[in-house]
Amino acid sequence: QQEPRALIVIFGATGDLAMRKLYPSIFNLCRNGQIDENVAIIGAARKPWNHMEFRQRVLESISNNLESDESPNAFLSRFYYQQVDVTDEASYKELHHLVIDLEEKYDTDGNRMFYLAMAPEFFGMIAQRIDRFGLKNSDGWTRLVIEKPFGHDLASAQKLNNEVREAFDEDQIYRIDHYLGKEMVQNIEVIRFANGIFGHLWNNQFISNIQITSSESLGVEERFHFYNQSGAARDMVQNHMLQMLALLAMEPPITLDTDEVRSEKIKVFRAMRRIKPDKVDEYFVRGQYDRGEINGKQVVSYQEEHEDLKGSNTETFVAGKIYIDNYRWAGVPFYIRTGKRMAEKAAKIVVEFKNMPMNLYYDEKDKQQPNLLVINVQPEEGVTLHLNAKSNKPGTQAEPIKLSYLYNHKSGMRSPEAYEKLLLDCMLGDATNFTHWDEVALSWAFIDSVIEGWKRKKPNFPNYKAGTMGPDAAHELLEKDGFHWWPIK
Ligand code: BG6
Repeated sequence: QQEPRALIVIFGATGDLAMRKLYPSIFNLCRNGQIDENVAIIGAARKPWNHMEFRQRVLESISNNLESDESPNAFLSRFYYQQVDVTDEASYKELHHLVIDLEEKYDTDGNRMFYLAMAPEFFGMIAQRIDRFGLKNSDGWTRLVIEKPFGHDLASAQKLNNEVREAFDEDQIYRIDHYLGKEMVQNIEVIRFANGIFGHLWNNQFISNIQITSSESLGVEERFHFYNQSGAARDMVQNHMLQMLALLAMEPPITLDTDEVRSEKIKVFRAMRRIKPDKVDEYFVRGQYDRGEINGKQVVSYQEEHEDLKGSNTETFVAGKIYIDNYRWAGVPFYIRTGKRMAEKAAKIVVEFKNMPMNLYYDEKDKQQPNLLVINVQPEEGVTLHLNAKSNKPGTQAEPIKLSYLYNHKSGMRSPEAYEKLLLDCMLGDATNFTHWDEVALSWAFIDSVIEGWKRKKPNFPNYKAGTMGPDAAHELLEKDGFHWWPIK
């Protein structure tokens, strides 16, 4: 693989995302030799730091990753700081000077990545100023990386997109959905398209339903203010959950090129049955956590987390049934669920196959087990296939068995953090695992009608205990179709 040459400019360099994800990821990329001496980083933010103060913070952010005998100095020496007031022209000029100096020093071929690790209300303005004040004029490539939330609904996302597009073309914009950087999310395509046993059965003739869960045991933490405006549907479903669904449902792309993969995903979003607001209760369940117990610890309800949350109608849990109205998937429900303060932190996909037409081997009381393909996204990364095989008891009984492969148990293997992969992809110009505007727009249109339906009725919150797998209605959603959620353990 070629080594990237680039100058990375991180706006919001003193913020949480940069500290928790970006610097440790860049550190790992350097340590693995995936980026070398032709990459340098400028941190841009409001705080009046100098290069040394900045490097000190970067050092703190990677301290957990550092081996005791490892010197971080060479790594830290490529970090530079520029105080920036994002509204002020002079700031961009100073930044531009630093960019030009460092490009020469690091021989980066004029390649520039602008990473906006900050609140979305600034995206449009910064993108336009980067353009207006000449930071895009370069002989190399220029790319803009933006984080979610990408809008609050379709209208605001559209507005934001128009603003950003005034300065950058679609193929220069890298919209991060960090789930697309997860090893096992990327593995969905490989498992589907490199295995005849799945590839041939991957349709409504053989699959009865697909379940996608991403549960968290944490509550809203310090982000309550943002979260309360957002809720689980906007925070998780519009992006991560629907992206996983698209990868599970899409047709095989002609090649693995970015445009081919994206165009297949976009078709899934187009085929997703839009839920009419007055029918929302048939398809979607929302929840908000009450007090409860997690890992032996008592925790408060969502509304008790902060006085501003009292009386809140924001959902901290969503379960939904989604139909893809196309030839392959007609009639197959895709169930999704996600929430805060659930029993545990896990992300998992279960593909449930239809049973054999007749049951020869099981007693009536313990019914035939369907075959399941389970893709464990996190914390374990692996694949498990649930089969039926002969039991060693007398007679011809069958019993369920599991074939499992666990990735992180392979010695010496470490799955690259999602951000590592995405940063490297962006430097190498591979936008496959970033979301195209059409995907964003179609998923907002879908979520908007769900939220519109919810707005018409006041929810009865709180409705699930912390430490459980959500409200009863989330279980009933499947039971009325003759299914149940498969356990996440
Ligand atoms: C983020 C959401 O996009 O994803 C958070 O804003 C959520 O609320 C997080 O906690 C979950 O990501 P992961 O990788 O921990 O499953």
